Amino acid sequence: MTTTPAVRARNLYKVFGRRPKDAVARLEAGASRTEAAGLGTAAVIDASFDVQPGEIFVVMGLSGSGKSTLIRMLNGLLEPTSGSVEVAGSAISDVPAKRLREVRRQNVSMVFQHFALLPHRTVIDNVAYGLEVQGVAKAARLAKAREVTEIVGLAGWEDKLPSQLSGGMQQRVGLARALAAETDILLMDEAFSALDPLIRREMQEQLVELQAKLGKTIVFITHDLNEAMFLGDRIAVMRDGRIVQIGTPEDILTDPANDYVAQFVQDVDRARVLTAASVMEPARAVVPLTVGPRGALRSLRDLQTAALFVTGRDRKLLGWVRDRHVMRQVKANDTDLAAIVNAEFSKVGPEAALVDLFELAVESPLPIAVVDGADRLLGVIPRVTLLAALGNVDTTTSPIPVLEPVTRISDVELDATLEGAIR
Ligand SMILES: Nc1ncnc2c1ncn2[C@@H]1O[C@H](COP(=O)(O)OP(=O)(O)OP(=O)(O)O)[C@@H](O)[C@H]1O
Ligand SMILES: [Mg+2]
Repeated sequence: MTTTPAVRARNLYKVFGRRPKDAVARLEAGASRTEAAGLGTAAVIDASFDVQPGEIFVVMGLSGSGKSTLIRMLNGLLEPTSGSVEVAGSAISDVPAKRLREVRRQNVSMVFQHFALLPHRTVIDNVAYGLEVQGVAKAARLAKAREVTEIVGLAGWEDKLPSQLSGGMQQRVGLARALAAETDILLMDEAFSALDPLIRREMQEQLVELQAKLGKTIVFITHDLNEAMFLGDRIAVMRDGRIVQIGTPEDILTDPANDYVAQFVQDVDRARVLTAASVMEPARAVVPLTVGPRGALRSLRDLQTAALFVTGRDRKLLGWVRDRHVMRQVKANDTDLAAIVNAEFSKVGPEAALVDLFELAVESPLPIAVVDGADRLLGVIPRVTLLAALGNVDTTTSPIPVLEPVTRISDVELDATLEGAIR
């Protein structure tokens, strides 16, 4: 089953200048942006993508790459020179102005970087402003405005004037106004760019929360890669009017489509983007409980490791055992491996961000276990893997102190114990 995309763009072009249609024809025939420059400025060239309902789709690129032009075509503020846009299944290019306004009002609201708040109106009136313009009755619009004002964390500030608010709070008013319109799609053009870093981070987190709660579809423009990586379910990277890659943050980090994207991602904070699932390795040092102490000892010997994970029924991870405890059991002819299983270990879900694994990695001599919802072992993340995944991070300043390797019992001693047990 396929769902109707919230936004569908096909072969979108926008050329500003004297002969836009001719410029498109040239571009379609393979001319470069520079070659077509005599006919106009090609701000967006052949952009095609779908944004799925409930998705946060980020458009990222340097200044002048065409991001704002692209987003303005998505809500009909700009007419494409060529190509088509559909919003919730309805075309918005080549339609009568009245129909366009309708689609826009019902489906799309927009938040800008410098949101023009009305200076002499209170917060609540600013939030309700869009509804007022739409002719919504006073009681209804104030009720709605109160609700969304609370959602964005401005409860208690309803009666203040914009000048009494910090920049971050003013931006929240802008967001609240967009939410009040109750459209399914939010277009946000550099909405957080004017905020200082801490407030900005807070707003990003709040937006993700809001999205989860309200299920909005969000197209978010930014030139900040870390912001893109944090917010985006998928990211479209633009360069000189063209979308050069569309992918998940992980795709873009681990498999940049070209040098331009690679350069862009060089200084991203990988630890926040990569997930446990993307760096975990198959767990080799793991045995089922049923192998008993002797089987465990043999695995310790074969794998040259000091500890093993132990799984129970349904491959559920029970804990881990250390070589010296296993050896003691074997020597004592004790067959109950469960008795020495240590149930204390670090485990995370596949979606955990690497940034949250550092502390665990320090605490535990074992690799971190990655488990699914039923506690089944999906893979492991050894400390070295965690470091390697951070790639260009300088390990001397990494938050992970390099620990002494866990000391193993010697092979000779293990062999002797195994043989002794056989005799
Ligand atoms: N109304 C216009 N008339 C002429 N050229 C325009 C117009 N709007 C944008 N452009 C040009 O189109 C190109 C893309 O501009 P756009 O504003 O879409 O870029 P952007 O990626 O949003 O940049 P920024 O990060 O600075 O906001 C630029 O070269 C710009 O000068
Ligand atoms: Mg812009």
